[in-house]
Amino acid sequence: MKKIFISLSIVAFVFAGCSTQTAKDEVLTLKDALGRHNILAGVAVNVDEVAGRTPKAQDVITANFSSIVAENCMKQEKIVPEQNKYFFDDADQFVDFGEKNGMKIIGHCLVWHSQAAPWFFTDDKGEEVSRDTLISRMKNHIVTLMTRYKGRIYGWDVVNEAIEDDGAFRESPYYKIIGPDYIEIALKTAQEADPDAELYLNDYSMSKPGKRDKYVELVKSLKAKGCRIDAIGMQSHNGDDYPDLAEYEKSMDAFAACGVKVMMTELDLNLLPKPEDFGGGANVGDDFKYRQELDPYKEGLDEKAQKLFDERYLAFFKIYEKHKEQISRITLWGVSDKTSWLNNWPVEGRTSYPLLFDREYNPKPVLQKIVELF
Ligand code: XIL
Repeated sequence: MKKIFISLSIVAFVFAGCSTQTAKDEVLTLKDALGRHNILAGVAVNVDEVAGRTPKAQDVITANFSSIVAENCMKQEKIVPEQNKYFFDDADQFVDFGEKNGMKIIGHCLVWHSQAAPWFFTDDKGEEVSRDTLISRMKNHIVTLMTRYKGRIYGWDVVNEAIEDDGAFRESPYYKIIGPDYIEIALKTAQEADPDAELYLNDYSMSKPGKRDKYVELVKSLKAKGCRIDAIGMQSHNGDDYPDLAEYEKSMDAFAACGVKVMMTELDLNLLPKPEDFGGGANVGDDFKYRQELDPYKEGLDEKAQKLFDERYLAFFKIYEKHKEQISRITLWGVSDKTSWLNNWPVEGRTSYPLLFDREYNPKPVLQKIVELF
């Protein structure tokens, strides 16, 4: 592996798989490079990684990243599958792991229509709950999680995916039962539960003009109502031809102009063919039928695809470098291609290559170029 040598005497870490470096042959990693600009280098981790069942993954996480987010274990369906029956083991282990390794720990996510607990919106008879009941359940959920991890979680995705691509409110059960002010209620509850935790609104396809405008309007009006919002999360589940880079940059500028930080919260790059009717985005409910032609890289990316992968990743990171003053965190949605959700979404059972570490947990060559940029 080629190494990047730096003359500055900053603390050095090695890429997993490399031999230890001497003081003057230091290797700069992603967390060091981004850290020089006060940007956290984050990664979403799964329960196997946290529990040490995939040791190579743990090495990559601790050597290269300064922040972790829970890929699934803090979601409602996992953490409170039945009413009043919490399952905290995995989330506890996740938070312990982050603390042990001195990482900034991100909670994902408190209010979301997907992966919601099955009981959450209905009563014993299976009828939709009232506005008051849902407000009380939502508040209780926020307070329970935030209190348990108070002082240990750096920031929470409070509301996830509230807005449609055209800027309309998503007609989620929260919206339909409570009304648009569920976001204000959620933020104020979170603010009170752990005043020191950062609070985020997070969404995909943030480069779409309708969505951008709506979030700008929302952030301004929520702030006027006394809500604190520390950052807007642009999930950044990217592809070869989406998002449009100029629109993506416009969104970063627009959000930053509202006085909040911008974060790339779920970065990955999907180069697999798109099923018809797939409109980009990251709606976890999408599920298209498997066909051979949608899975062309089973044995590895060909030269053309590899070139596109490198160029596209660099294009994104050049934008991040240009906007570095606006950005507080860049989080990859997964450690290695082996475990990326994009092997199973929006089509199940494909072989995808969307991340910066390959299936053997080796860093991809483009990672060095990214590090050099910063
Ligand atoms: C994904 C996980 O990666 C998968 O393991 C799970 O099956 C579905 O959810 N937007 C989000 C994330 O906010 O929580 C989603 O994570 C990806 C899209």
